[in-house]
Amino acid sequence: MKGIILAGGHGTRLYPLTLAVSKQLLPVNDKPMIYYPLSALMLAGIRDILVISTPTDLPQIARLLRDGSHLGLTISYAQQDEPRGLADAFIVGADHIGGDTVALVLGDNIFHGHSFYDILQENVTDVDGCVLFGYPVSDPERYGIGETDAEGRLLSIEEKPERPRSNRAIVGLYLYDNDVIDIAKNLRPSPRGELEITDVNRTYLDRGKARLYDLGRGFAWLDAGTPESILQASQYVQVLEHRQGVRIACVEEIALRMGFIDAEACDRLGAELAASSYGRYVRAVAAEFG
Ligand code: G1P
Repeated sequence: MKGIILAGGHGTRLYPLTLAVSKQLLPVNDKPMIYYPLSALMLAGIRDILVISTPTDLPQIARLLRDGSHLGLTISYAQQDEPRGLADAFIVGADHIGGDTVALVLGDNIFHGHSFYDILQENVTDVDGCVLFGYPVSDPERYGIGETDAEGRLLSIEEKPERPRSNRAIVGLYLYDNDVIDIAKNLRPSPRGELEITDVNRTYLDRGKARLYDLGRGFAWLDAGTPESILQASQYVQVLEHRQGVRIACVEEIALRMGFIDAEACDRLGAELAASSYGRYVRAVAAEFG
């Protein structure tokens, strides 16, 4: 399975924070925001990843993530000149996906939960159609919303409905079979002129090939698109990291635990950052492993 991180857009809801810096590079507690969606792909075992962003932001993101080889990954980059909607990722990323299945994750989505690794492993193999992930929220009119029957089967999907039929948001992590490229290419832009991911998902639903996996309430899903939500996400991460002495979305640690790099390589990465407590944590993880 290939991975795509969509880190486009101008982050206008964060102005002036994003006038000079990409939203996905802003800090969420102790690390850049993009580490969180990158971690989700890594935990799914995905090592070939395309990052899509604007021409201005791409060089900054590439400075951070490089070619990915230090993490045992292959990271490549593609430009999206204008925000054309989330589904445009499959057109921009068509060559990257090739004949494979693909996971798309949004660059401002943060996932955390004890069972996340198992949930991903359970869902990434042999994707036939699409797998969506649902999460209960208090403000469903802000998201793509999935309505299900008593057995959890998807009945409808709506984008930012005025009168939501459920409180189950569809989170910004999507798994697709290879049909997604054709589906995206044949989409009509929505009234706001964008290729909507919800229309892709609805096409799968109409074909009887959309599945919704409920992440449930014992899980954290946050999106960091406004100053408030970035602060909340930072607080969430800070509280857990401080309490448990572990780090959430530490990409060096995940690369080590997933077997993408060895302890020696992990220690070298930590040594480069040793002036920070993050770097010292990476070294301690490597020492514990080695
Ligand atoms: C997008 C999608 C929406 C999804 C959300 C998750 O909305 O259109 O369906 O629920 O991401 O973060 P946006 O945040 O771009 O408004």
